[in-house]
Amino acid sequence: MARVLRILLILIAISFPYLNSADRHSHEESILECLYSQNYNTTISQVTFTPTNSSYDSILQFSIKNSRFNTSASPKPVLIITPDSIPQIQTTIICSKKQKFQIRIRSGGHDYEGLSYTSPDQNSSFLILDLIRFRNISIDLAQQTAWIQPAVTTGELYYRIAEKSSTLAFPSGICPTVGLGGQISGGGWGTLLRKYGLAADNVLDTRVIDAEGRILDRASMGEDLFWAIRGGGGNTFGIVIAWKIKLVPVPASVTACTVTRTLEQNATEIVHRWQYVVDKLSNDVFFMVVLNRVVNPIQANATTIQASFNSLYLGSIEGLIPMMEAKFPDLGLRRENCVEMSWAKSILYFAGFPLNSPLESLLDRTISATGSAKFKGKSDYVKEPIPISGLEGIWEKLKEVGVQTGGLILASYGGKMSEIAESSIPFPHRAGNIYQVEEVAFWVEDGVEAADGYLNWLRGLYEYMTPYVSKNPREAYANYRDLDFGRNGDGGGGGGGKGDYRRARSWGSRYYKNNFDRLVRVKTAVDPANFFRNEQSIPPLSSWR
Ligand SMILES: Cc1cc2nc3c(=O)[nH]c(=O)nc-3n(C[C@H](O)[C@H](O)[C@H](O)COP(=O)(O)OP(=O)(O)OC[C@H]3O[C@@H](n4cnc5c(N)ncnc54)[C@H](O)[C@@H]3O)c2cc1C
Ligand SMILES: *[C@@H]1O[C@H](CO)[C@@H](O)[C@H](O)[C@H]1NC(C)=O
Ligand SMILES: *[C@@H]1O[C@H](CO)[C@@H](O)[C@H](O)[C@H]1NC(C)=O
Ligand SMILES: *[C@@H]1O[C@H](CO)[C@@H](O)[C@H](O)[C@H]1NC(C)=O
Ligand SMILES: *[C@@H]1O[C@H](CO)[C@@H](O)[C@H](O)[C@H]1NC(C)=O
Ligand SMILES: *[C@@H]1O[C@H](CO)[C@@H](O)[C@H](O)[C@H]1NC(C)=O
Ligand SMILES: *[C@@H]1O[C@H](CO)[C@@H](O)[C@H](O)[C@H]1NC(C)=O
Ligand SMILES: *[C@@H]1O[C@H](CO)[C@@H](O)[C@H](O)[C@H]1NC(C)=O
Repeated sequence: MARVLRILLILIAISFPYLNSADRHSHEESILECLYSQNYNTTISQVTFTPTNSSYDSILQFSIKNSRFNTSASPKPVLIITPDSIPQIQTTIICSKKQKFQIRIRSGGHDYEGLSYTSPDQNSSFLILDLIRFRNISIDLAQQTAWIQPAVTTGELYYRIAEKSSTLAFPSGICPTVGLGGQISGGGWGTLLRKYGLAADNVLDTRVIDAEGRILDRASMGEDLFWAIRGGGGNTFGIVIAWKIKLVPVPASVTACTVTRTLEQNATEIVHRWQYVVDKLSNDVFFMVVLNRVVNPIQANATTIQASFNSLYLGSIEGLIPMMEAKFPDLGLRRENCVEMSWAKSILYFAGFPLNSPLESLLDRTISATGSAKFKGKSDYVKEPIPISGLEGIWEKLKEVGVQTGGLILASYGGKMSEIAESSIPFPHRAGNIYQVEEVAFWVEDGVEAADGYLNWLRGLYEYMTPYVSKNPREAYANYRDLDFGRNGDGGGGGGGKGDYRRARSWGSRYYKNNFDRLVRVKTAVDPANFFRNEQSIPPLSSWR
């Protein structure tokens, strides 16, 4: 049965683009005609790429951050437009509407399911509006604010802040290549979340181009839309062309530490204990634990499970050690596990760069945590410590995959995260969470068969986690987009309704809990025709009437 289905899917994938190619061609010509004829005095032809232009492939691939969608089978855009001015964006909106093209907006290209540059629908005609040239940053030190454009990466932002001040930072993500266009649109957590909340919690103003091509700021868009765009998902309410953000104070020197423990070194007990302390520590401490299968450091012909405890302390080693000895002695944290450095450098530390890497590594958009690997991630929230027996079951799951190809990343919550109301912005995962989990699989092998193996493993791990994580709904992080939600057979996060509505509620209640309904109301008010959309964008009410 599964085999027949796969063959059928392959046949469909092969035949449709072929059958459609003549149609696609005229469709492409008509949108080019429209783009070039709009009297906006833009030079849009210089930033428009069709598959016949020699640089089409390199521009498409430059910001693909998940190689799973970098294959000849992945649906490709009819056009890529890389605007360098606002009128070019407005022209693109007008012509896409007229010619019924879907727009895929891309800033940093880290969408877990590739939705900023491809489509799971083999039939769709879409174009990419690639904002790669919208990368300006302007920092106002006196006000401790900055205006940033969407294709600015977290690394670029941290670097530019560090150039001006060693005691300011921004509480966004750890991976330096992620675009702030997409990241802030879904929340944005990093090592400062227990101190200052999410990136989206620290947005003061914005510039958005709506489906009518109007440029809106906070005052002109109103508080409903301003609420929605701070976490309600990208490609839904408009095109974010700038964020105004609030910078936050950090000490000139912070402390980053790593302790690794294998099963033979009591990893199970220490991880178990970690769950009882980590959300209650001072807001100045952040903890991340990476769990995966490794070659056994003391017996090279065998593997084991390793827990890597990475912490950041907004203070000195002298301040941290006694605190850990008092609150979390089981970890056995020692001075030599820790290094003091600037906050900007600590990002490189957490992102896995060697200690002596230059700060300029933060500027390199091409270095990727995922390298050329294919990956899929899923997410969970833990509200009660997982018992020892539950952890042992996770180790069994990890032993089913190869070394370093599957894992879990735990990130401590509590602190400021618990003080912010669930309805403050669309991101709802606040008080009551001890930590967030990302379950992830990485692989380099090509082909559907290999991918299915890893995907099935990951889904099995996710299934295994069910009793230990949040329920009704089983919450998930919108920025770890997961197209398994809303598929046929997915029980979803509850809620009634039919068809599209039920499917949308399935991922909607997981990502946004009770904020989903307000997001639908805002969407219905600002984009009733559903111009900005992808497979997991908030639908307007009209779309399921
Ligand atoms: C290696 C890696 C590490 C990560 N680390 C972290 C982390 O530490 N913390 C964290 O919170 N998340 C992390 N993420 C998740 C990341 O925040 C999301 O994938 C985020 O959406 C990516 O933003 P982007 O601009 O790079 O991606 P894109 O793929 O360009 O965009 C993501 C989504 O937002 C839409 N979008 C992009 N730009 C705009 C815009 N200007 N206006 C409107 N919509 C837009 C896109 O259409 C797409 O739907 C990581 C992801 C990866 C792959
Ligand atoms: C475009 O250029 C023409 C001629 O230079 C000018 O008259 C017109 O006002 C310009 N339009 C816009 C929208 O800038
Ligand atoms: C790409 O090709 C189209 C014609 O197919 C042309 O109009 C456009 O100017 C080319 N783009 C660039 C950047 O040269
Ligand atoms: C995508 O594929 C091209 C060649 O097919 C390769 O050069 C490029 O490095 C790949 N990029 C990623 C992120 O996998
Ligand atoms: C793809 O397009 C064909 C022809 O237009 C249509 O018959 C088919 O239903 C479409 N498939 C999907 C999955 O939308
Ligand atoms: C970025 O800033 C420069 C210098 O002020 C300006 O010329 C350019 O137009 C800006 N780019 C965008 C996309 O706003
Ligand atoms: C593991 O725990 C036991 C019992 O608490 C202890 O005796 C032993 O030293 C620990 N091992 C390591 C490597 O910490
Ligand atoms: C691993 O090596 C040790 C000796 O270093 C040996 O005793 C043991 O049998 C080996 N195990 C396996 C699984 O090969």
